[in-house]
Amino acid sequence: MIYSLSMEMYENEELPATLEWYKDQIAGHHPSVVKNGIRQIGIVKERGKEQNLLKLVQDGMRGISEVQFYDSIFQKDQSNHTKAQAVALEGLRNFVPHYFGKRVIEIASRSYEFIELEDITHQYRKPCIMDIKIGKVTYDPDASEDKKHTESIKCPHQKEFGFRILGYRLHPDERGQIRVRDKNWGRTRTPENIQIAFDEYFQAIPSKKLKSDAIKVFRKELAKISEWFDTQQEIQMYSSSLLFVYEGDPHYHTPAKMKMIDFSHVFYEKQYDENYIHGLKFIDNVFQCIEKTDINKEKF
Ligand SMILES: Nc1ncnc2c1ncn2[C@@H]1O[C@H](COP(=O)(O)OP(=O)(O)O)[C@@H](O)[C@H]1O
Ligand SMILES: [Mg+2]
Repeated sequence: MIYSLSMEMYENEELPATLEWYKDQIAGHHPSVVKNGIRQIGIVKERGKEQNLLKLVQDGMRGISEVQFYDSIFQKDQSNHTKAQAVALEGLRNFVPHYFGKRVIEIASRSYEFIELEDITHQYRKPCIMDIKIGKVTYDPDASEDKKHTESIKCPHQKEFGFRILGYRLHPDERGQIRVRDKNWGRTRTPENIQIAFDEYFQAIPSKKLKSDAIKVFRKELAKISEWFDTQQEIQMYSSSLLFVYEGDPHYHTPAKMKMIDFSHVFYEKQYDENYIHGLKFIDNVFQCIEKTDINKEKF
């Protein structure tokens, strides 16, 4: 059956009763963005299926790129890739959210195509999430000169960092004060305050011990992902993110987690992905500095 798939919905339309907007979303296409009466479709949850979420398959190559990527990683369809690419892609399985394939869903009598992914925050009572976009540059080799220009001036220190923070979202503090930072805050981080920025993300962690445990998990995951990047010359990811989560509820001890997400700009050239590798190293370095600072604080 051939569907005519839609990319947008109108401002006055609502999601069907079976769906709801994902409330913990940090970056990306978001339903609060309305232009000329057209609402962006953000991340959607199916009621009663808390462990997963649905992401709209985006327009053109961006959507095709992400679907092919997940299809290959989870061996649903590898026909678009060489054997070497398929092997490298399968190596990513533990680093990305679990993928359950494509879904066609009706909203306001139109058909929309989504991918169904594991919601990596679902096990947490009070998920504390941070999204970091990786890369010295976040435009891909096919981007127009205009796009390259607008992307490259977004964050003055991105070349040096190899990433930019898209934001974090913590549960409100004891006084009900919200604790959220957005991409504009992320863009203005500097070498002088980048460690403080990461520390700010940890402000909702219940204890020093749990903070140290969470950093250990993040560093271990970063090391595994770095190893993957160091041993493959098949795949490059532009504008992809690392999503960090830790438990903010002191009564629950769900271990911290970090996953790679957002694969709308994947390239298959025979080279290392230096652009991504640089960001991994820098982030690991920031965590290492936080560990050292915290150990010193304990001493004095
Ligand atoms: N598998 C996931 N689990 C939990 N949250 C997710 C997941 N995928 C995306 N998100 C949330 O949705 C946001 C946007 O996702 P992303 O894939 O980057 O979409 P876009 O392509 O619109 O940029 C992320 O910043 C994150 O907060
Ligand atoms: Mg994104």
